Amino acid sequence: MDVRITVLPGDGVGPEVTAEAVACLKSVAERYGHRFEFQEALIGGAAVDATGDPLPEATLKACQGSDAVLLGAVGGPAWDKHPRDQRPESGLLRLRKALGLYANLRPVSVHPALEDASPLKPEVVRGTDLMFVRELSGGLYFGEPRSYSDQAAVNTLAYTRAEVERVAKMAFELASSRRKRLTSVDKANVLETSRLWRKVVDDLAPAYPDVAVQHAYVDSFAMSLITRPRDFDVVLTENLFGDILSDEAAVLAGSLGLLPSASLGGSVGLYEPIHGSAPDIAGQDRANPIGTILSAAMLLRHGLNLTAEAAELEAAVDQTLREGHGTGDLKGARQAHGTRSLGACVRERLAAAVTPSR
Ligand code: NAD
Ligand code: IPM
Ligand code: MN
Repeated sequence: MDVRITVLPGDGVGPEVTAEAVACLKSVAERYGHRFEFQEALIGGAAVDATGDPLPEATLKACQGSDAVLLGAVGGPAWDKHPRDQRPESGLLRLRKALGLYANLRPVSVHPALEDASPLKPEVVRGTDLMFVRELSGGLYFGEPRSYSDQAAVNTLAYTRAEVERVAKMAFELASSRRKRLTSVDKANVLETSRLWRKVVDDLAPAYPDVAVQHAYVDSFAMSLITRPRDFDVVLTENLFGDILSDEAAVLAGSLGLLPSASLGGSVGLYEPIHGSAPDIAGQDRANPIGTILSAAMLLRHGLNLTAEAAELEAAVDQTLREGHGTGDLKGARQAHGTRSLGACVRERLAAAVTPSR
């Protein structure tokens, strides 16, 4: 299979973690006889410094002309005071919007070897297996009007039925293929957008009779998520709630650095870890590359339909963690690694897996 993958390393730890994920994808390609062509492009602060624009036209073109996009992270203190259109984060938001990516899948599971890595009790986190479906191209992030002055600032929360319906359908379908439970998280006791959200989910429910639907308010759900995480399967929510709740859910897994994501809905998907550029550890070979490597596995599965290849990469990660290897963010990892050597661990286990038939 011949495919073109655009790699957007971005800022901070972005280049360090994408390098490990790309090396894993190269190993997979070699094992299965695929031809993956990688092209790097600028995004975020790196792009601002080079071109003045956090999403240069050439980058968007490259992404649109490829089969999948792998991203590290954007942002950092150097650009925090820039005007909005020259901020790294604006580049990422524009990219998601331009590619039509309305659904952000963020799986969160607790690896048996990492039950002690969470500050929560092992018996609380054990067996957690969640799939967040975060609406990604609407809500407060994009609503108009928006404005800023030193005296007053405005953001707008708006959703249309069509916007809710398309992401909710994806969540129902995922639930149907998993444990058949869908929790829709909103703030319908206060917000009109949430009342619409609830109505749309309820209107869709009869089309998915095998899925049990439950609604939850975001404030109490934030608590339930860490007190009884096993009770949930697919969690559907709007853009900002999903951003916040998925970082909270990282506490269950043991580290933010473990969690991957896939942004879907357009013709080209975007695959990125859920963490940011981690400026506090950037350039020190300390970042956990697993979230990005698992994002590469999601790229294989959702972007290229290479199911066996994705499963094999996930199995290599699973084995790496089971054997106690980890970066410093994983409390209790018995074998301490840097970013590069943990990536190499995954690739060694990949190489040792039973050779696939071509
Ligand atoms: P962050 O996710 O970068 O870091 C939060 C904490 O988690 C830090 O202590 C960091 O060291 C740790 N961490 C993150 N990734 C890790 C990894 N792979 N391995 C080990 N530890 C890891 O969030 P922040 O500090 O709030 O934001 C920093 C910058 O990143 C900001 O500019 C923000 O806008 C940006 N950001 C970008 C993205 C993205 O590109 N998708 C996501 C979130 C934040
Ligand atoms: C994420 C990040 C982004 C978001 C920022 C950097 C725009 O926090 O991917 O979770 O809020 O979506
Ligand atoms: Mn976030």
